[in-house]
Amino acid sequence: EEAPLEEAFEQTIARNDRIEPRDWMPDDYRKTLIRQIAQHAHSEIIGMQPEGNWITRAPSLRRKAVLLAKVQDEAGHGLYLYSATETLGVSRDDLTRRLLSGTQKYSSIFNYPTLSYADVGTIGWLVDGAAICNQVPLCRTSFGPYGRAMIRVCKEESFHQRQGYELLMTMMRGTDEQRAMVQESVDRFWWPALMMFGPPDGDSPNTERSMTWGIKRHTNDELRQKFVDMTVPQAKALGVTLPDPELRWNDERQAHDFGSPDWEEFWQVVKGNGPCNAQRLAHRQRAYDEGAWVREAAMAYADRQVDENV
Ligand code: ACO
Repeated sequence: EEAPLEEAFEQTIARNDRIEPRDWMPDDYRKTLIRQIAQHAHSEIIGMQPEGNWITRAPSLRRKAVLLAKVQDEAGHGLYLYSATETLGVSRDDLTRRLLSGTQKYSSIFNYPTLSYADVGTIGWLVDGAAICNQVPLCRTSFGPYGRAMIRVCKEESFHQRQGYELLMTMMRGTDEQRAMVQESVDRFWWPALMMFGPPDGDSPNTERSMTWGIKRHTNDELRQKFVDMTVPQAKALGVTLPDPELRWNDERQAHDFGSPDWEEFWQVVKGNGPCNAQRLAHRQRAYDEGAWVREAAMAYADRQVDENV
């Protein structure tokens, strides 16, 4: 009985067309999308914390306004992506519980601390740069609501990346001390940024099937390579050194060779043992608890609207 439905699904995928929420889809397609989009949404929400840490200590009114706007954008991305996940038949409440109980992940990168104001610039340049590299191809993902959400998210991420680069450029034109701050920050974030793309293809259990389904358009290693190639000239223009002695141009491959991130560290962070995992989740839990009255009030209001309309 499901055969014609399955066939229609396969044909839509083969045509590079979009699957929409009301279309039939295999259970595992639905499951992997819920996993990936929810993880993406959680990353946006948890990702507000490392930079939010600097809002009260921004060095000028202008920097504070920019940072506030940026962190608000991340909240918007999270809500956008939770809505996209809800079209697959899960509730935002349920997804939040899965984040807080540790059954759903969020990006490893947000488990590293932000130790200086230069980190705000480095996150914009490297972390949002990596996010763009990973997300631009997702604008063509096979699930409609996810792809459409990515278009707006990517436009805003581009602004984030530029503000980060501009911030670092300003510091690099400053004092020796400021230049040292930038270099120190880049030294800490370079390898974690490379880890954002996920494990090497050989250790990535989901890539092959997600590519077959058009959920992912490139493998983890392909995107990591693209990011390195894109970032090297930017580092040069900025005047910082990327902390990888193996990094060099390979004329034959027309791409950069580079060293391997510490994958043991990556898996530890993914498993919850990174420097800030406990702190990030505790903060999120506290915000959730403190927001209970808002959710209750909103539900009571919504119920009353329904009552008044019948
Ligand atoms: N941080 C945390 N977990 C990760 C990371 C990472 N950087 N990379 C991979 N993982 C997890 C995967 O979720 C998967 O776990 P699970 O199967 O238990 O759920 C496991 O490690 C194995 O990885 P893969 O098989 O390679 O997983 P997948 O095919 O989903 O690829 C990737 C991972 C590239 C992150 C993909 O999910 C993706 O493109 N997601 C959308 C982008 C995104 O989430 N960005 C968030 C950070 S950017 C930002 O918000 C600024």
